[in-house]
Amino acid sequence: MTHKIILDTDPGIDDAMAIFFAFQSPDIEVLGLTTVYGNVPVTMSARNALTLCELAEQDIPVTQGVGMPWVGPESGYAHFVHGDDGFGNIDFPASQRDLDPRSSAQFIVDMARQHPGEITLVAIGPLGNLALALRLEPNLPQLVKGVAIMGGAAFVKGNVTPVAEANIWNDAHAAEIVFAADWDLKMFGLDVTNSVPFTPDFMDDLELRNQKLGGFVKKSSEFYTDFYSQGRDDRVCFFHDAMPLAYLVNPELFEMTRGHARVSTDPLNRGQTSVAPIGTTMSPLWLEASQIDVATKVDHERLRQLYLDTYAL
Ligand code: RIB
Ligand code: CA
Repeated sequence: MTHKIILDTDPGIDDAMAIFFAFQSPDIEVLGLTTVYGNVPVTMSARNALTLCELAEQDIPVTQGVGMPWVGPESGYAHFVHGDDGFGNIDFPASQRDLDPRSSAQFIVDMARQHPGEITLVAIGPLGNLALALRLEPNLPQLVKGVAIMGGAAFVKGNVTPVAEANIWNDAHAAEIVFAADWDLKMFGLDVTNSVPFTPDFMDDLELRNQKLGGFVKKSSEFYTDFYSQGRDDRVCFFHDAMPLAYLVNPELFEMTRGHARVSTDPLNRGQTSVAPIGTTMSPLWLEASQIDVATKVDHERLRQLYLDTYAL
């Protein structure tokens, strides 16, 4: 079955790897890339998304979305992880293509109305565009097939604070709106994405199987691997963002746990995604919270092979 998706992204090196995976997969049709701030400012996210589409010879709409969190000051961005250019400082020539003139939120709403019940929103950055789309079109949950996100940390510690993962921490109020909406939401958080380290051999293999796209991922992930290898005696990185896409293609690689989910927005716990597995609480405060599916395990070796085989197509 082919999954029609809109990929909401803040490219970003692991975003790039995920975007190329989606482009390569015969089971995924990417209707457009909607961009958001997060790893880098939204203007850079948008330009980088155009560059990735041009490199992959994909002629699809790319839109620029929200550049600020729902509440609070401008983000600090993650150039220390993704480089000044968002691509590991590899000085890759930027595309000169034009953006679609619509905002990311408007594009999401327009496409959902055009393809009612068919589109899966895959969000691999902060969730401001999805939250704004919900405000533009309150019936959005009924107009999309579902939502799959890279974000959160349900039963493991965070990567920005002890309790919060970056995408949720960057826009906790938007995430609260998205988690509370009445749609089918699947969360691929650090519970699974931090459990699968990728070594330079994997990046070498990606390049062997796809010189252009794999070669870009290999080159851009040098800087990214430096960051993740600090304090370790081996070189590794984590390709967080491809996980929700791998689930669409091969759901049996994952164990999912259903539970009531809450997003914290208080200053201390901002961005915490707390999940009460079904049947583990009688608290009305938790029972009234929306239910989501959280990825809690993944088959490491079959996941790696899926990435390699898809890049080789
Ligand atoms: O915490 C990892 C997430 O934050 C990934 O989406 C990465 O690209 C960054 O946006
Ligand atoms: Ca991302």
